[in-house]
Amino acid sequence: MSRVYIETYGCQMNFADSEVMRAILIGSGHRIAESAEEADYVVINTCAIRDNAEQRVLRRIADLEAWRRKSGSRMRIGVAGCMAERLKHNLLQQGESVAFVVGPDSYRRLPSILQQVESGSKVAETELSTVETYDDIEPVRIDGNGVSAYISIMRGCQNFCTYCVVPYTRGRERSRDALTIVAEARHLYEQGYREVTLLGQNVNSYRAAETTFPQLLAMVAEVAPDLRVRYATSHPKDLSDDLLRTMASYDNICKAIHLPMQSGSDRMLKLMNRHYDSAWYMQRVDAIRRMLPGCSITTDIIAGFCTETDDDHRATLDMMRRVGFDHAFMFKFSLRPGTYAATHLVDDVPDKVKSSRLEEIIALQGELSLGNNRQEIGRRYEVLVEGESHRSKEQFFGRNSQNKVIVFDRKETRIGQYVTVEVTGCSAATLIGKLVNGRCLQVK
Ligand code: SAH
Ligand code: SF4
Ligand code: F3S
Repeated sequence: MSRVYIETYGCQMNFADSEVMRAILIGSGHRIAESAEEADYVVINTCAIRDNAEQRVLRRIADLEAWRRKSGSRMRIGVAGCMAERLKHNLLQQGESVAFVVGPDSYRRLPSILQQVESGSKVAETELSTVETYDDIEPVRIDGNGVSAYISIMRGCQNFCTYCVVPYTRGRERSRDALTIVAEARHLYEQGYREVTLLGQNVNSYRAAETTFPQLLAMVAEVAPDLRVRYATSHPKDLSDDLLRTMASYDNICKAIHLPMQSGSDRMLKLMNRHYDSAWYMQRVDAIRRMLPGCSITTDIIAGFCTETDDDHRATLDMMRRVGFDHAFMFKFSLRPGTYAATHLVDDVPDKVKSSRLEEIIALQGELSLGNNRQEIGRRYEVLVEGESHRSKEQFFGRNSQNKVIVFDRKETRIGQYVTVEVTGCSAATLIGKLVNGRCLQVK
């Protein structure tokens, strides 16, 4: 039996998948190593969303190869995740020690893959499935803080945004059985977890038997009043009033919505195949403000998509100001082989222009975040304590329902507890606060 170390890159779904891989490996008698150096196998769970994500993984493989040669270790490498699916057996040529490639729907085959590798073969298993959800596998969570956990509720995506590789690397959309999700949430609660994040590329498409996403959200919220429930991600084209109503009816469903906008230009949105325009996006934002006052709104933005002009770019900046996002993930467009953009459009915005537009977007978001955070000063929030702050052992950090990080003097509090904190200061990224009477808040 082997010692396996799993390293994860990319999105939350990959982190959740690594936990599934750990469960499968442990279930077949393998052990989880604590570092790459002491492992027989290093499995790299990869992301293919942008070229720089892939370059990072290729550098990591090269570094591991070099270390292996120098140290005389017999460690072998396995490549899992979205790059595995995109590049398949070609990855076996990345280095002598790359022994296997395993796509996102083939993790149940890991034990047999390791067996084949032991007997001298190189293996690539990259078949995508229309049904695999790993719903009977209880993920092994070892990287986390014991307070907050991911639960994968669906896999795949078939929205085919023209820039995006995910539909090709993750395959068709499929939803996991609702009762297994609720059972997992309940088990996590019993183990002391106080927050779960339900994961899918577009949670509003969740449907298992007769259960819709708002119904599932309510079922998980019913597990316990002091179990916080979050989710990611909701596609603006079908963010429904029904979902907003469900969020409003439960205190423990967090008031934070990640709503990737991508661009503020209607021409770009059409070219991206996003199925909404800026008016629709704004109308959804208004619905959130009306039905969920105080809810935070965060987003994803792409700078320099195919044929983007200065006017298109300005439309994005205008929309950012109109919405006043609390936070954004901002990217330079990266052309992905095999996507509609690669086969039908031209990646004609020069890199320099992409960079300067991205910088403007980042600078504006910095102002918006800081402005929003300044308004928080003086407000009181219920905060779930997650861990020690990086700066000082005397301080803890946690999040409020809006998903904003708040740092405060820890005093007698402990990780996993709910406390009331009053915001006293801020930066663009973090709120600073003080415990109110140093007391633990009674959960409603
Ligand atoms: N399913 C989620 C997003 C998953 S990918 C959704 O649609 O909301 C996360 C983000 O990466 C996307 O929202 C997009 O902003 C960005 N992204 C995806 N493909 C990209 C590309 N080719 N170049 C740059 N950014 C990209
Ligand atoms: Fe990619 Fe669009 Fe699917 Fe999100 S919804 S994963 S951006 S194709
Ligand atoms: Fe990356 Fe795959 Fe997630 S491409 S963003 S790891 S679904």
